[in-house]
Amino acid sequence: SGTVRLAVIPGDGIGPEVTAEALKVLEAAAPAGVKFEPTRYDLGAERYLATGEVLPDSVLEEVRGQDAILLGAVGGRPGDPNLPPGILERGLLLRLRFELDHYVNLRPSRIFPGAVSPLRPEITGHPGEVDFVVVREGTEGPYTGNGGAVRVGTPHEVATEVSLNTAYGVERVVRDAFARARRRPRRKLTLVHKTNVLVNAGKVWSRLVDEVGREFPEVAVDYLHVDAATIFLATDPRRFDVIVTDNLFGDILTDLAAAITGGIGLAASGNINPDRTAPSMFEPVHGSAPDIAGQQKADPTAAILSASLLLDHLGYADAAAAVERAVVADLAERTPGATRRTAEIGDAVAARVGG
Ligand code: NAD
Ligand code: IPM
Ligand code: MN
Repeated sequence: SGTVRLAVIPGDGIGPEVTAEALKVLEAAAPAGVKFEPTRYDLGAERYLATGEVLPDSVLEEVRGQDAILLGAVGGRPGDPNLPPGILERGLLLRLRFELDHYVNLRPSRIFPGAVSPLRPEITGHPGEVDFVVVREGTEGPYTGNGGAVRVGTPHEVATEVSLNTAYGVERVVRDAFARARRRPRRKLTLVHKTNVLVNAGKVWSRLVDEVGREFPEVAVDYLHVDAATIFLATDPRRFDVIVTDNLFGDILTDLAAAITGGIGLAASGNINPDRTAPSMFEPVHGSAPDIAGQQKADPTAAILSASLLLDHLGYADAAAAVERAVVADLAERTPGATRRTAEIGDAVAARVGG
């Protein structure tokens, strides 16, 4: 029991629409005696365009003091000349992930009964057989902004984006992935990388998987190059249990994972700080979807399942499971081809959780 102080960052596009539904469900799922105390932070394109602010230090410090963060999506309208790409993505989303040390970007990928996979049934097997989790490194790789450009705009322009891989950073995420694999029934870990080309980074990832793996003898270890991993995600996704991979490979693989497990509207994520030195942040895998924003067309399920991950992280496993069950029941009742408004889905799931 007690109060959970929640930072809510609805953000841009469909972010506010799906976050409203996730909050609704979260409140309906709150265990007896637990009260969520949301504080809303208006960060994103609108704030930036009006004030030039992306994430003021004072706001970051306030957010750091909360128990958890629920985020919708960030990213403005494509082609807006006043909002160059990267300003919000780097300045807001990645800054939060880096500053709050979200080194485990957790992206569960499961075909729920009732979800519609584009893969044939021979490939997916029974509902529940495709059930893996991507442990995406969240603080390093090519995302750190370690690069630059010279002679910009000339035919002689040279641009670099250097991938950063520290033994410290790789070891901690690999250990977390092994620990997760050990808790799962199949106890299998697949390292996904590109060690045949990115040999420097590849060596540190391979070595640390070998070394840390010795502490987890009950976990079977497998390796795939990232290009081959995309083949198997489409042709044999049942082979995966825990995938551990770098920041960029994990970004790409998890959109594919979302597509094969029923669509980007269902894919949830947690940006976890396993050491709990700062609040973890929960958000759908998808972006601000400017093409459907403001029309109540977005599926809030990904945001709702992210709220379930939040509950689980805070230790409310029963409430988290209740949200998941409510989503599964909602998916099972969907009529293929029929559309429901964002709020309708949220209301339906909240009612099931409450009931
Ligand atoms: P996107 O995920 O926003 O959209 C891709 C496609 O999926 C679109 O057709 C969209 O309509 C659809 N879609 C996404 N979420 C949906 C939902 N809940 N229900 C139904 N359909 C949904 O990716 P994008 O178009 O590449 O990026 C748009 C903006 O979002 C960019 O500015 C990008 O940088 C940003 N972005 C932010 C995040 C984040 O905040 N975590 C993640 C990805 C992209
Ligand atoms: C995601 C997004 C982000 C990422 C972008 C918007 C910075 O694509 O959360 O998957 O690349 O991590
Ligand atoms: Mn992505």
